Amino acid sequence: FARTRRLAILSTALLAAGLSWAQAPIVIKFSHVVANDTPKGKAADFFAKRAAELTGGKVKVEVYANSTLYKDKEEMEALQLGAVQMLAPSLAKFGPLGAKEFEVFDLPFIFDNYEELHKVTQGPVGKMLLGKLEGRGIKGLAFWDNGFKSFSANKPLKSLDDFKGQKLRIQSSKVLESQMRALGALPQVMAFSEVYQALQTGVVDGTENPHSNLYTQKMHEVQKHVTLSDHGYLGYAVITNKKFWDGLPADVRGKLEQAMTESTAYANRIAKEENDAALEKVKASGKSQVHALSVAERQAMKKALVKVHQEMASRIGQETLNAVYKETG
Ligand code: LMR
Repeated sequence: FARTRRLAILSTALLAAGLSWAQAPIVIKFSHVVANDTPKGKAADFFAKRAAELTGGKVKVEVYANSTLYKDKEEMEALQLGAVQMLAPSLAKFGPLGAKEFEVFDLPFIFDNYEELHKVTQGPVGKMLLGKLEGRGIKGLAFWDNGFKSFSANKPLKSLDDFKGQKLRIQSSKVLESQMRALGALPQVMAFSEVYQALQTGVVDGTENPHSNLYTQKMHEVQKHVTLSDHGYLGYAVITNKKFWDGLPADVRGKLEQAMTESTAYANRIAKEENDAALEKVKASGKSQVHALSVAERQAMKKALVKVHQEMASRIGQETLNAVYKETG
């Protein structure tokens, strides 16, 4: 009798464990380095909400913003090790993964506007680029927009003379390094989470950002001048650990793909508005003076930066470069 009872208790326990296992959601840790109140932050939160809704709670996406979990370099390693399941690093940060082609997006003046950008990110070239990650244990899911960058410093950066000798923080991209050198500045690679303090203490003199990042990190409070240069683009690829993704039940994966499609549309709808609104807030703060470039200043900047395309062609790959040029006309 005792044995039967023991068995009964055991099977009840197993059943309960089975039930709770069946009900336990699949957790996706989504780590990123910017504030919640940015195009990427908002899109990540949107994805979390839609993933829960579409899977009826089977998936729980935990979003960790502002480098609370990992900084730039560490998050890439964490994804490969499976410590997090999803990231949306800037396209300038794929070099260390061996995907140097992604640095094509960092080339100065490569896109004149979002329409040109979308021809690449939302078309066959974008698909081809995401496919390049597969061999590295990473699945590329989508491109999310941020925006076009402005320079900031404690002096207006307009002419090559202004740039001379300025220490400017960059993301870890060789193209950005080449860009800064072509302008006569001294590039300094630094994790995003460290930029505010580096600007505040004078470790670097200035940097480049889309306005949403500049404003939400309060960089404009420690930079006296912002130059509206639109000289380059900063955006993201949403990526996941391929083994994790392929191991998901097919129905769940399908719903997550749908959530991602919706989140991409959302991200790309709000990005420009968010950046425009952030610029207005920077102006309204009165902490930073905002400068436009004259036609001649813009031409001179463009001229100085042409050589970056040539210098970086072999790193990026001529084939990728030509494919992008073709899309953007
Ligand atoms: C940066 O490091 O400046 C950006 O990549 C941050 C981000 O994720 O937008």
